[in-house]
Amino acid sequence: MRIDNSKAKELRQDFPIFSSRKNLVYLDNAATTQKPEAVIDAISDYYKSSNANIHRGVYKLSQEATEKYEASHKQVENFIGAGNNEVVFTRNATESINLVSYGFDRTFKGKNDIVLTEMEHHSNMVPWQQFAKRNNLRLKYIRVKEDFTLDYDDAEKKITDKTAIVAASHISNALGTVNDVKMICSLAAKSGALSLVDGAQGAAHSEVDVKSIGCDFYAFSGHKMLGPTGTGVLYGKKELLEAMAPFNFGGDMISKVTYEDAEWNSIPMKFEAGTPNISGGIALSEAIGYLKKAGMKSIERWENDLLKYAMENMKNVKKYNPGLGKSAGILSFNLDNVHAHDVASILDMHDVCIRGGHHCAMPLMNKLGVAGTARASFYLYNTYEDIDMLVKGINEAEKVFRR
Ligand SMILES: Cc1ncc(COP(=O)(O)O)c(C=O)c1O
Repeated sequence: MRIDNSKAKELRQDFPIFSSRKNLVYLDNAATTQKPEAVIDAISDYYKSSNANIHRGVYKLSQEATEKYEASHKQVENFIGAGNNEVVFTRNATESINLVSYGFDRTFKGKNDIVLTEMEHHSNMVPWQQFAKRNNLRLKYIRVKEDFTLDYDDAEKKITDKTAIVAASHISNALGTVNDVKMICSLAAKSGALSLVDGAQGAAHSEVDVKSIGCDFYAFSGHKMLGPTGTGVLYGKKELLEAMAPFNFGGDMISKVTYEDAEWNSIPMKFEAGTPNISGGIALSEAIGYLKKAGMKSIERWENDLLKYAMENMKNVKKYNPGLGKSAGILSFNLDNVHAHDVASILDMHDVCIRGGHHCAMPLMNKLGVAGTARASFYLYNTYEDIDMLVKGINEAEKVFRR
């Protein structure tokens, strides 16, 4: 499918929120996306006609729910090029990253450090800070250059045979930068370090093939890619998931329990203790079906067109973006001497939703010397008219604060 402005308008009709809020200009897609009717229906259909707990009942209803939930794992595996049983469902990208950080506690011998990048979201930083404390490791950060891209020479210097884990974002939620994660994962592999890609923005905005990236782990959230909140994914290489210790203990994740001890179930159940978000997991499959129909390449191209249009039309703002070809459809900006929250509040008066703040990247904001930025982030249903409204709102904010 080729997405252009009229196709985007057509796609919009699949999203009920745009019918119930006619003037809504939703440009906070990096935070969470809107949901198509098919996803909303999948949730209610599950409760209306398939509701039962999974993996437990011998009766048909339970078996049907189990089959749908397991089929959704397959759909996700197929979407990111993973192999059989290499996908674990979690609540969100944050939980996926925590799962890995706890799973490898006390397993590193002769290692000194963990390498992250200066543009990480707190979700791919704070778990590693805690991991470093628990495991007596040092944190190192790959530098972000003035042009908002990563310094790959610095990456080569910092990733060494003393590195335990390299964790880097695929696409920065704060800058839009698309990182060369293939290269970073290859440096990690050459040094004998584990690699984790934070794909919270990656899987939503680009075509992902985990085998071609060469990562050991890839973490992402369903709600940032048309799926329900409370759905997340951890991809891991089969042998690493086998080696990794579980993090939550209880029902479903065991194969045998005695009064003294327990043995673990196969993957993914080993990491999915307790009753999961069954309706959410099933609906995530619908979200992926929708994205596949639109085509990830087409979505990437359309976001790029929208970014180009926004860059050309947002003239009087300072942009924190590496530029076309190096960025996904995420544009951070500031008006001189105006707080990002004030810009976002003025835009909200026109029903334009953007994010203003530190974007869960406080250390990066400190490095950039700003309290925060305003951020517009696009998706397949956004149009040039949405950006016109954004520009109109920015011009108005300028007038208000320049008076
Ligand atoms: C790059 C990145 N990593 C991680 C996260 C965390 O995602 P979640 O809140 O769904 O766990 C986000 C959310 O904004 C993100 O943009």
